[in-house]
Amino acid sequence: MASMAAHPISLSAAPPVDRPQFFSASSALLNFQKAFYGERIACSRFEKLASRRIHLSVRATVSTEEAAPAKVEKISKKNDEGVQLNIFKPKNPYTGRCLLNTKIVGDDAPGETWHMVFSTEGKIPYREGQSIGVIPPGTDANGKPHKLRLYSIASSAPGDFGDYKTVSLCVKRLVYINDKGEEVKGVCSNFLCDLKPGEEVSITGPVGKEMLMPKVPNATIIMLATGTGIAPFRGFLWRMFFEKHDDYKFNGLAWLFLGVPTSSSLLYREEFEKMREKYPENFKLDFAVSREQKNAKGEKMYIQTRMAEYAEQLWELLKKDNTYVYMCGLKGMEKGIDDIMTSLAERDGYTWSEYKKQLKKGEQWNVEVY
Ligand SMILES: Cc1cc2nc3c(=O)[nH]c(=O)nc-3n(C[C@H](O)[C@H](O)[C@H](O)COP(=O)(O)OP(=O)(O)OC[C@H]3O[C@@H](n4cnc5c(N)ncnc54)[C@H](O)[C@@H]3O)c2cc1C
Ligand SMILES: NC(=O)c1ccc[n+]([C@@H]2O[C@H](COP(=O)([O-])OP(=O)(O)OC[C@H]3O[C@@H](n4cnc5c(N)ncnc54)[C@H](OP(=O)(O)O)[C@@H]3O)[C@@H](O)[C@H]2O)c1
Repeated sequence: MASMAAHPISLSAAPPVDRPQFFSASSALLNFQKAFYGERIACSRFEKLASRRIHLSVRATVSTEEAAPAKVEKISKKNDEGVQLNIFKPKNPYTGRCLLNTKIVGDDAPGETWHMVFSTEGKIPYREGQSIGVIPPGTDANGKPHKLRLYSIASSAPGDFGDYKTVSLCVKRLVYINDKGEEVKGVCSNFLCDLKPGEEVSITGPVGKEMLMPKVPNATIIMLATGTGIAPFRGFLWRMFFEKHDDYKFNGLAWLFLGVPTSSSLLYREEFEKMREKYPENFKLDFAVSREQKNAKGEKMYIQTRMAEYAEQLWELLKKDNTYVYMCGLKGMEKGIDDIMTSLAERDGYTWSEYKKQLKKGEQWNVEVY
């Protein structure tokens, strides 16, 4: 967007030197907003959003005794006419500009993950849970232009600055050693993580309907993320807890399980903890830190290991028709989660694969793993 892109590049949110190594994107964004909009507006947006109390109708301590809630009208995400798809295609991508790019994991984390904000001038209207494509510059080994890579949008529809003119991503830098022992850098993720404020990025989309969030404000939304799979859920949670909408006031239960390798790679931790502090009745937050935590049996703490601690509660929630599960991240997590569900379903005489089919049909089981 013209006015932001024209703003001095010194607005890039490099962490102040006196900050701890783990640096959250929210702090970066707040610094950016203060510089761009001025202290009053930036703080008022954050404080207003964060301090707004919402009416509580669901207890955070999940009660398995509660009667099933009254039926709520469901609007199928597939029939949601307001959702835009493929406004920009690979042959005619949108050229956005990087406004902010900041590393959001500690230096000791395995791998680098960056949070970045691009200008869109409002030309890529998206919903929480959609993705965009990025076409990296240059050509591949065959001399052909690089193909687009998909990235889940990590912001809510209004964007990190609340003006509907930006889109944010959460990107892990891909670096691996090939069979010959050489270091290989992923083309697009390295392009993105190296982007400096002011530089251009070719964007396609938006795409995807699988991860659109339910419209009903009293839903129970269980979000299961590994690593950068957190991206769509940051959008969900900003809509639920940081924003004010005339047509949506969340008063259900949001439960986030996030699996990461180390505590220094707990993405957006400060934001989520702030939400839990402000809305303890409506937001449950559980981390699985695989390389630092173990369960009672001494097993590695994966997301499904953490979920198993709440198996009964989760199963009871799954029996309610306003509970929606969303899974995003590593492909491997899907099997792990299916395994715990299989044993729970069996205890009640159900076959999990059949049960899941029904949940999927009702758009209550939504998966995007890669
Ligand atoms: C719907 C969707 C949403 C996504 N959202 C996100 C997101 O929000 N954030 C994010 O960071 N990523 C996301 N991804 C992944 C993203 O699209 C890219 O695949 C990723 O960034 C790597 O692209 P690259 O261009 O850097 O790597 P490339 O240059 O394309 O290299 C990738 C290739 O390298 C090879 N490779 C990778 N790892 C290894 C290894 N360990 N050993 C040997 N070979 C290997 C494989 O052949 C792989 O296909 C998403 C993918 C999908 C499909
Ligand atoms: N919409 C989408 O489809 C979408 C969106 C965003 C990201 N993604 C994909 O999600 C992946 C995220 O990777 P990342 O590098 O960001 O993550 P990461 O930082 O490496 O974190 C992944 C976490 O999951 C753990 N894990 C490994 N195998 C697992 C399994 N079988 N079950 C459960 N947990 C497991 C890892 O543990 P250990 O490493 O300790 O084993 C680690 O704690 C990428 O492949 C990305 O392409 C997909």
